[in-house]
Amino acid sequence: MIVPTLRTQVAIVGAGPAGLTLAYLLHQAGIEAIVVESRSREYVEARVRAGVLEHGTTELLAAIGVGERLRREGLVHTGTQLRFGARNHRIDFQELTGGKSVTVYGQQEVVKDLIAALLSADAPIVFDAEAVALGRLDEDRVSVDYRDAAGTACRLEADYIAGCDGFHGISRAAIPAQALTIFEHVYPFSWLGILAESPPVSDELIYTNHERGFALVSMRSPSVSRIYVQCAGDDDVAEWSDDRFWGELRARLDSDAGGPSVIEGRVLQKGITPMRSFVAEPMRYGRLFLAGDSAHIVPPTGAKGMNLAIADVRVLAQALDLFYRRADSAALERYSETCLRRIWKTQRFSAWMTRMLHRFDDHAPFDRRVQLAELDYVTSSRVAAAGLAENYVGLPLA
Ligand code: APR
Ligand code: PHB
Repeated sequence: MIVPTLRTQVAIVGAGPAGLTLAYLLHQAGIEAIVVESRSREYVEARVRAGVLEHGTTELLAAIGVGERLRREGLVHTGTQLRFGARNHRIDFQELTGGKSVTVYGQQEVVKDLIAALLSADAPIVFDAEAVALGRLDEDRVSVDYRDAAGTACRLEADYIAGCDGFHGISRAAIPAQALTIFEHVYPFSWLGILAESPPVSDELIYTNHERGFALVSMRSPSVSRIYVQCAGDDDVAEWSDDRFWGELRARLDSDAGGPSVIEGRVLQKGITPMRSFVAEPMRYGRLFLAGDSAHIVPPTGAKGMNLAIADVRVLAQALDLFYRRADSAALERYSETCLRRIWKTQRFSAWMTRMLHRFDDHAPFDRRVQLAELDYVTSSRVAAAGLAENYVGLPLA
């Protein structure tokens, strides 16, 4: 049987922030790439995920010409609030980092903007195309076998594969287990997240450490809030009625005792996010490069997932550019090492924020006092606050 085959320079598996940003960077560098994505365009554009862009992520999107709507609709935040002991404590990013800030803009909005830019540049994205096998990873031409929307078996042949297919994709699984080292920590709690037609309780995000558990109030626009509360690791979203959610949020914000007052609104979306720290090393096997969630996961407390994914593909795009322009593969050889330095620092930050802000059921009274002292320190010492701010707005690329 003849398998319909497309040929390109770089095959990209997955149209999340990693795959789409890489596709656009390669397109701008004149390198051919084809993206295969198992879901439909509508599905990936509607998937609600996190929404804080580091300073450098916002600058990159603007520099490559995908920042127009982001500039108009993104909410610039020059600081954030840490709430504990029934008080808010502000971390002033701008003042502590020499003028940097973050931008609140939903991940799916970034995805929409990238898809629109790619399609208007005639850069190919094949939706409804599930990659089922990656082949010949250590030979000169690699292959991605996928099923198209009609279920027909198709093939993509390329010089390289970028595995941008997220944590549950096939790319990491295509690497022999003995060639990878896995580092992992699974937290004993999750986040219940909602998107609601409710005006944000504050101009800035509030990260709350409360006896009853963590809560985070974020936003998407002046009329839409994105809110999370810590829940049990094995909680089912069906156990969380809207009333239970709003009640728990009010309790954790101490709303009835003068804390930020919550204005309830229609819940548009509700879901549970497990909390995990995960790294697979190295991020390369033969001609397959892993980028984004396929190689690493951070707990969402530091708002780093999408930013890390985009940082990986910046490094990869630069390395591929050097290879295609000058036949120099040194940067490709160093890809994993270059990315992992920043990834581990970001893992450290995300794990630290997670430990500092959540309720741990196995905490002894001593551990709880140390946690509160950590919060007191970070909000009263300029040096400690600057460490948080520097990481939150984003570490340098390399
Ligand atoms: N074939 C094709 N596409 C696939 C396959 C497959 N076999 N498996 C998964 N995909 C697609 C998914 O449908 C998804 O669109 O790969 C994409 C992976 O995207 P993300 O999960 O968004 O991962 P990434 O681009 O690395 O971005 C990381 O997204 O998961 C969030 O919180 C995370 O913010 C982080 C960011
Ligand atoms: C979000 O707005 O979705 C968000 C913000 C900050 C986080 C995580 C998620 O740390």
